Amino acid sequence: MTSGPPTAADRTLNADVRWDDFDPHQYVGHNYLVMQAVDEEIVTLVRDHFSDHFEGGDRVPRGIDVGAGPNLYPAFSMLPWCDSITLLERSAQNRRYLLGQRDGDDAHQRDGYDAHWDPFWKVLCGRKGYADLDDPRERFKKVVEDPIEGSLFELCGAKPGWDVGTMFFVAESITTSLEEFQRGVHCFMHALKPGAPFATAFMEHSQGYRVGDIEFPARDIDTNDVRTALGDFVESTVDIQRLHTSDLVRDGYTGMILARGRRKE
Ligand SMILES: C[S@@+](CC[C@H](N)C(=O)[O-])C[C@H]1O[C@@H](n2cnc3c(N)ncnc32)[C@H](O)[C@@H]1O
Repeated sequence: MTSGPPTAADRTLNADVRWDDFDPHQYVGHNYLVMQAVDEEIVTLVRDHFSDHFEGGDRVPRGIDVGAGPNLYPAFSMLPWCDSITLLERSAQNRRYLLGQRDGDDAHQRDGYDAHWDPFWKVLCGRKGYADLDDPRERFKKVVEDPIEGSLFELCGAKPGWDVGTMFFVAESITTSLEEFQRGVHCFMHALKPGAPFATAFMEHSQGYRVGDIEFPARDIDTNDVRTALGDFVESTVDIQRLHTSDLVRDGYTGMILARGRRKE
């Protein structure tokens, strides 16, 4: 892997990558089979952000997880708070994985998502809105829509339509281009209605990552880049932090960054 800013020679744009080759099982095996301390920290912080915003109020109609990939915990974090959840994902293999997790697998007598996702749900149950849901698998089946084939960048062309949103390890992990990273963040924020709460996570100073035998690109960014990209889209109360427990389970980066806030009115 190279280090430092990308040169013209190793510049990889989002459209250059064969996203259908992304192997969800390899990715899950490396990242989510066992809950890492940093993911526990993220889930806790996102849980508290959404609980503080929604507790005691009515459910909102629509949530979205952008670049969902084979990660269920962003959708989990929205389960109590909205009537439906959109999963937007570019890779066919990842969409298939998500559908299989929602619907279960009769052949393996699995009703709903795999048991290794349960610890993530357990962390969420530290707050009432989540703990009050008796059967998270049933709720996941009911609320999560069929994953949508599409690109984050297309969200910029549509009317803001979502009441809550998440985007984890996407804008900086799908390109080496600063312009595409910034546009990715803009398009995510654009999709949210004014006042909508959101949470978005980033790899800090990532030099790219490997899933199975395949290298995927990343843009090397830091908290200042995140702040700049969020810019005028967010209320001034936005919280952007480097996580304490970045245990470097994923390769070639220096930490993780989490931004929590609300889309500006
Ligand atoms: C590093 S993975 C992150 C997956 C997941 N959100 C997580 O938290 O682990 C990046 C994801 O972005 C998806 N992706 C790549 N380009 C995209 C695009 N233009 N629009 C939406 N998703 C995209 C990839 O297929 C992959 O699932």
